[in-house]
Amino acid sequence: MKTKLVIFGITGDLGHRKLLPAISRILRTGDFDNLEIIGVSRHEADVRQLLESSLGNVDDIVDRFSMFTMDLSAADEYVRLKDRLALEADEQVIAYLSVPPLSATQIVDMMGQVGLNSSNVKIMYEKPFGMDYESAVDLINRTDRYFSDDQVYRIDHYLAKEMAQNIVAFRGGNALFSHIWNGDVIEKIEVLALEKIGIEGRAHFYEQTGALRDLVQGHLMQLLSLTLMQIPEDFEWSKLPDMRLAALEQIDIAKPELAIRGQYDSYRQEVDNPSSTTETFVSLRLHSLAPEWHGVPLILTTGKGLDQKTTEIRVHLRKAHEAQSNCIKFKIQPDEGVEMEFFVKKPGYDREFERQQLKFSYPEDADLPDAYEQVIVDAIKSRKSLFTGSQEVLRSWEILRPVQSEWQTSGDSLRIYKLGSRPEDIIGDNII
Ligand code: BG6
Repeated sequence: MKTKLVIFGITGDLGHRKLLPAISRILRTGDFDNLEIIGVSRHEADVRQLLESSLGNVDDIVDRFSMFTMDLSAADEYVRLKDRLALEADEQVIAYLSVPPLSATQIVDMMGQVGLNSSNVKIMYEKPFGMDYESAVDLINRTDRYFSDDQVYRIDHYLAKEMAQNIVAFRGGNALFSHIWNGDVIEKIEVLALEKIGIEGRAHFYEQTGALRDLVQGHLMQLLSLTLMQIPEDFEWSKLPDMRLAALEQIDIAKPELAIRGQYDSYRQEVDNPSSTTETFVSLRLHSLAPEWHGVPLILTTGKGLDQKTTEIRVHLRKAHEAQSNCIKFKIQPDEGVEMEFFVKKPGYDREFERQQLKFSYPEDADLPDAYEQVIVDAIKSRKSLFTGSQEVLRSWEILRPVQSEWQTSGDSLRIYKLGSRPEDIIGDNII
């Protein structure tokens, strides 16, 4: 089937850093000869120049791209777009909305109004899926007016990371682990997304967002649900969104007293707001009400301006006595792999234990597909397991609602930390 991939906002930062490199790799596999890319922008842009600025030499793929200039707020411009696309019954259009949330809603409305919403039109868009529970409901309702849920592909690029998908393979494909995956054996689960970078010039976006919305609501909740969910017995990947949702539904509503927030010390100057209480660090303890996870602390921690870039899930096993301590780590990035800490006898005459690691990592030259490549390919193939369902979005907001409202009304609990801090320095002994 021929696919016309229409990228709104192709000239933006995401287009330059992620989408164009992902598309060029997809085209260069040679498996997608029926893929045509139409970049939409408000201002005229030369397609070759645009591609070369992010990809270098594009002689082999430039013919697959074209540009369409339009005013995104004018309804009749969408009629022009519809004519340009001239969609046939045996073709599909994927509209990738790489634009701010307000523009995305407007584009969805306008496409619907001019009839660019037949069943062979798909919409792909990125978080933020609303700013809280209520705005997410509104966004979903507005999309529902013109598009059915199976036409909508909500991207959470963490779900598409190779190692995030591997959590499912590792848990389901190995009896050794599938048998121990419950609170009788597992003592605590930590999901961490730690970043060295700050807000990278996104002051306006970040002031309205903060770490809870930016990382916890989507990325971390998704990694947590992949860790807690049941694996479908037939290993059918299309069931994953339902499995993740079932896990989220069991997570108890967050308690503000089990949440810590911090802000790195130069943040207020960076955003030019001396009284900002926007958090750049969050650590939150949750619990699941599912019987198999009863009493197991689920700790989500994320922050910017820290001492390291690490995204990983640590699954701590219960100890029968002090000498034991096993931890399974899903290393989402960098150094993608799985690591297990365990104890062995220290070589020598004495009977001592020492900590060692059992590791799986991809070979250094392994060429792992980028998350954006995966989501585009899956949308072309109508595979939805890597995308967030509307109910998952709503449930995550619902879980976090009390923390959001507490933090909105009071700045008291904010901890200011030095750039380059370790998470444990910010958290102290409080909740972990
Ligand atoms: C984005 C957030 O969704 O994810 C950013 O908006 C964050 O603030 C980024 O830096 C992290 O993504 P990755 O893939 O680099 O871990």
